[in-house]
Amino acid sequence: MNLFANTKGLDYELLDSGNGRKLERFGTYILDRPEVEAYSSKKQPEIWFQADYRFEQTSPSSGTWHYNDALSDNWLIDYKVGNKSLKFKLELSKFKHIGLFPEQAENWRYLHDAIQKIDDCRFLNLFAYTSAASIVAASAGADVTNVEALKQLSNWSKDNASLNKIENVRWLVEDARSFVKRAIRRGDKFNGVILDPPAFGHGSKGKRWILERHLEELIEDVSKILVPKEFFVIINTYSPKLPEKALLEILQEHLPGNSKIKIDQLSLKNESGASFTTGNLARITSL
Ligand SMILES: C[S@@+](CC[C@H](N)C(=O)[O-])C[C@H]1O[C@@H](n2cnc3c(N)ncnc32)[C@H](O)[C@@H]1O
Repeated sequence: MNLFANTKGLDYELLDSGNGRKLERFGTYILDRPEVEAYSSKKQPEIWFQADYRFEQTSPSSGTWHYNDALSDNWLIDYKVGNKSLKFKLELSKFKHIGLFPEQAENWRYLHDAIQKIDDCRFLNLFAYTSAASIVAASAGADVTNVEALKQLSNWSKDNASLNKIENVRWLVEDARSFVKRAIRRGDKFNGVILDPPAFGHGSKGKRWILERHLEELIEDVSKILVPKEFFVIINTYSPKLPEKALLEILQEHLPGNSKIKIDQLSLKNESGASFTTGNLARITSL
């Protein structure tokens, strides 16, 4: 099924997409960036001149941001969920990313609501990036463990935490697979787990991550650290090499028998019909 991400509460708008690019407003500023999934033609070519920041890719992993010198390379965006008003820091990175994936707002609302239903919820964020999901979970009252391999992202995540006066997070710079194995050995249990792995990446100490090769074992391991009666798991996958059907088979085989499983293709869409997909989203819960 196709699921259009609900970005309600996030001060964000998809303005247009097409011809391999997307035009988005993040708070005060408008960005024009490459988007491989934006296959169709631009719906409103006349509005693209409004971009404050434009990213031109020069190699598969790098490129250049073009913007007026008077603009900063970082700013804040607001996000409202429940009765909470949160802020996240955005920053132009060497590649086209800026520290937030807006379609993830779909998951933030889901996990915020799930955490409200569980007493003393313990939440684990694997592949955490700048830790937006952890900030939302902590603000909803969960005890949070945040696992990210790249040390450079720690300061960014901690900036996000202090912007929101969040303290109930355990920050770990570690390989996600090694962390889960260690949690099994220690008998640690979690009610909520979110996994947003890249198709390909490196854990700390250079340990490789290849989605199609490692996801199944990781899901099998995650199932061993769930609180059996009250759990939810959110999994995002971006690899075209892992179709929905294969993901479903892995989940059915390894997750507990009381799991309700739902898989969708997550997309961003606006009212003028501009849209592109952002990967598969699986939600598994006992709730
Ligand atoms: C797609 S991003 C996650 C985005 C994040 N969930 C969000 O919405 O803000 C993937 C992250 O996984 C990290 N990563 C890659 N391989 C890893 C590994 N083996 N263990 C832990 N983190 C890893 C990357 O550094 C990157 O920050």
